[in-house]
Parts: sequence; structure tokens; C-alpha cells
Amino acid sequence: MVRVLVLHGPNLNLLGTREQSIYGSTSLDAIDASISSLAEELGIEVDIRQSNAEGELVTWIQEARTGYHGIIINPAAYTHTSIAIRDALAAVGVPTVEVHLSNIHQREEFRHRSFIAGVALAQIAGFGPTGYTLALRGLAEHLAAQGTKAGRTGSKQPRRTRRGI
Ligand code: DQA
Repeated sequence: MVRVLVLHGPNLNLLGTREQSIYGSTSLDAIDASISSLAEELGIEVDIRQSNAEGELVTWIQEARTGYHGIIINPAAYTHTSIAIRDALAAVGVPTVEVHLSNIHQREEFRHRSFIAGVALAQIAGFGPTGYTLALRGLAEHLAAQGTKAGRTGSKQPRRTRRGI
């Protein structure tokens, strides 16, 4: 089975209450539920995690080197600052889709630069929570076109866990 790691960066645990005029009223749990539901429909196994810590995100990306076929990441504010997350993604070489709820290119200038985009397969920004399901569909099609099959990666068994572990 195709396995995808979904990572949410800092402050995304506050979705639903955080700056609703920008990020909407959908909670992270609701977003995760829609990702899980589409994954089931597509026959994909997803492992969804959230962290406010850059180093933890880097460690999880490194772990994705074995056992995962793709990554979907909303690095949140680390998008604009983290060479460490960019380097981790480049090092593991797992096809990655960068997702943003808001259209970062229409916002403050400091949000226009993404350190992640240059190592990502694609970037989706501005569709709100729908961006995550679009990312999963796009990644699934990309992996199918690459001929990705279950068992093509290393032996580590990914956990079917939710965020916060
Ligand atoms: C965000 C955009 C970032 O600029 C911001 O720091 C976030 C969320 C988005 O999903 O729109 O925390 O990644």
C-alpha cells in the first residue's frame, strides 16, 4: 500500500480559532478527518502529525526516508525561514507537496519566499483545507505514474497515528 506522511507545522494546531479571517473556521482535526477519508477511498495509508518544533519536523522527515512514498507538508511559518526543513526534504528525496491554506503570494512580502518550494514536487496555496485533499490526489496520481507499489521502500512500518505523537 502507498504510504504518505502528512506534516503540519507550528500554530496549525490552533486552526479553527486562529485568525479566522485568513485561515477559516475548520479545525485541524476536521482537516485530518477529510485527509483520512480520502486516503481510505484512494487506498492510501496516511500518517498525520503536527508539531510546533522545527527539529521534530526535521526528524520526522528524515524518518520518511524508509517506509513512505510521499510527503504532504504545511511547514507554516517555517516555510519562510527553515533551511533545515528544506535540507531534510532534499536529503530524503521523497516526493513532497507543499500546502498552504492561504495564498502566501498575496500576503505580506516576507511570506512570498518559500525555502520549501525549490525541493517540492508542487505547491498548493490558497484553497483552504481543500488544498490537502488536492495534494493527496495529485501525489497519488504522481506516484501511480511513477509505478510506486507497496513494499518498494524500506522495512520500517509507518504508524497509523494522529498528530501530536
Ligand atoms: C500558512 C502560511 C504561513 O505564512 C503561516 O505562517 C502559517 C500558515 C498557511 O497555511 O497559509 O502559519 O502556512
